[in-house]
Amino acid sequence: MGINILGMGKYVPEQVLTNDDFKRFIDTNDEWIRTRTGIVSRPMAGWEPTWYMGKLAALQAIERAGIAPEDIGLVISTTATADFHTPSMASVIQYETGAVNAGAFDLNAACTGFVYALDTARRFLETDRTMKYVLVVANESLSRFLDFTDRGSCILFGDGAAAAVVEYSDKLFTSALGSQGEGGKYLYARSMQIAPEVQTEAPEDFTSDYAETPLHKLFQNGKEVYKFAVQALPKSFELAAAKAGLTKDDIDWFIPHQANIRIIETAAKKLDAPMDKFIITLDHYGNTSSASIPLALNEAVEKGVVKRGQKLALIGFGAGLTYGGIIMEY
Ligand code: UT7
Repeated sequence: MGINILGMGKYVPEQVLTNDDFKRFIDTNDEWIRTRTGIVSRPMAGWEPTWYMGKLAALQAIERAGIAPEDIGLVISTTATADFHTPSMASVIQYETGAVNAGAFDLNAACTGFVYALDTARRFLETDRTMKYVLVVANESLSRFLDFTDRGSCILFGDGAAAAVVEYSDKLFTSALGSQGEGGKYLYARSMQIAPEVQTEAPEDFTSDYAETPLHKLFQNGKEVYKFAVQALPKSFELAAAKAGLTKDDIDWFIPHQANIRIIETAAKKLDAPMDKFIITLDHYGNTSSASIPLALNEAVEKGVVKRGQKLALIGFGAGLTYGGIIMEY
């Protein structure tokens, strides 16, 4: 049992930062960024809240799916960069899209969020057959917690949203989700601090993997994340493909998390799969965290590259450190 993606939508901010624009804040250059990452430019939210980008992507997905918002049973919003600790982005989007009969919750699996959410949507649709549609919205504003003095991380990310309306179907679908929590310390951003009114002394034996960092600012150990990514990507594919009894030769399109072209090329080599089977959008979107896979899928569908009946491998990896793969028929 699987799902059918009925319609997709996207929103990316109008503001675009080129590699050269970063020279305003940091010592960098276009050549370094292009050769080390493959990124040329990335959209960055100026005034747009995260939920607003999600709402516009969701409305386009609903329109393209040709469904009534009242028939949506569940809204899942994937985000690591929510506008609020509460309410959830999903509740805001549920209201804004008129999905008056839907439950709503956020799912944070960082850059693997869309893979986790599609799999979660499928399980809801399978166990509650009265539920007609699930709306999955991936919306991210990484720029809100980037440290624009850290040239090793701030050049990597972009902002944007993509959404999918999915329904129950008997199409091929397998998934494998994973997490290597011991690597959480390599990519994180703090959310809250203890209020001085209730602050107490920590016991002497208390330790934490997470070094003190400025509040909200993204900390990244690029080399460790890179090492993780180049093994997580092929591993996620192989775990999900094994469940489907398929190999890389059966896959029409690989749609990996768009973090860095070198990560994708190294993983393609490990899988012995040709790069021209990989959908690449990171050159113009950068790494948009959980929005990166659906933005890439949406663009490939819009261009007529991904067609109905084809077999896709969606592969995510990111903070957590999480990873996951889906093999599905489009
Ligand atoms: O969703 C997951 C998100 N995270 C990732 O995907 C990150 C994975 N890691 C990476 O993609 C790479 O590790 C980076 C792109 C972040 C860095 O590439 P690298 O080849 O590992 O470079 P490096 O950190 O070893 O740095 C090499 C040099 C250093 O200078 P020195 O010490 O050799 O003089 C850096 O200071 O490049 C320097 N550098 C830069 N130079 C110009 C680092 N960032 C920049 C920059 N512009 N933006």
